[in-house]
Amino acid sequence: MKKVLFVCLGNICRSPAAEGVMQKKIRERSLDEQYKIDSAGTSSFHIGEPPDPRMAYAADQREIALESRARQFIYDDFKDFDLILAMDEENFEDISLKGSTKDMEKVRLLREFDPEANGNLSVPDPYYGGAQGFDDVLDMLERSVENLIDFLERQY
Ligand code: 4NP
Repeated sequence: MKKVLFVCLGNICRSPAAEGVMQKKIRERSLDEQYKIDSAGTSSFHIGEPPDPRMAYAADQREIALESRARQFIYDDFKDFDLILAMDEENFEDISLKGSTKDMEKVRLLREFDPEANGNLSVPDPYYGGAQGFDDVLDMLERSVENLIDFLERQY
C-alpha cells in the first residue's frame, strides 16, 4: 500500500481537488487497491467543512468527485503516510514546523512533478480569485498527479 497525503492551507480547495484527481486517475489505471490517498490543511480554519463549492463545481465538470471533509494536518501524518505533498512553499514551511529534519524527508512540493511548472513550484491559492483560478489549479493538479503516479509506479 502506497500512502499519499496532499496538504494545503484550508483543505477545502487545492488539496481536496488533488485527492479527487488522484482517486480518479488511480481508479482509471486499476491501481486503487494499492493506494491510500488523503488530504489535510495546515490551518484549523475550515475543519469539518466540505470542499469549496467553486472547486467542487470545477471538478464536477471534469467528472472528478470531491468527497472529503476538511481536517488539520497532525504530527501522526508523518508516520501514517509515505509521501506528503505540499501545494505551495508556505504549506511546506508550516509542515516543517511540526516535524524533524528526518520527518521532512517525505515531504515534497507537488509541482515538482508538473512537467510544465517552468520553475514555478506552487499551486496558487484560488480562494480569493475568480472561476478561472479553480480551472487553472485543476490543470496543474492533473498534470502533476499523472506524473506523480508514473513516478510512484517506477519507485516501489
Ligand atoms: P486551500 O484554499 O488552502 O486551497 O483550501 C484556501 C481556503 C481557505 C482559505 C485560504 C485558502 N482561508 O483563508 O480561509
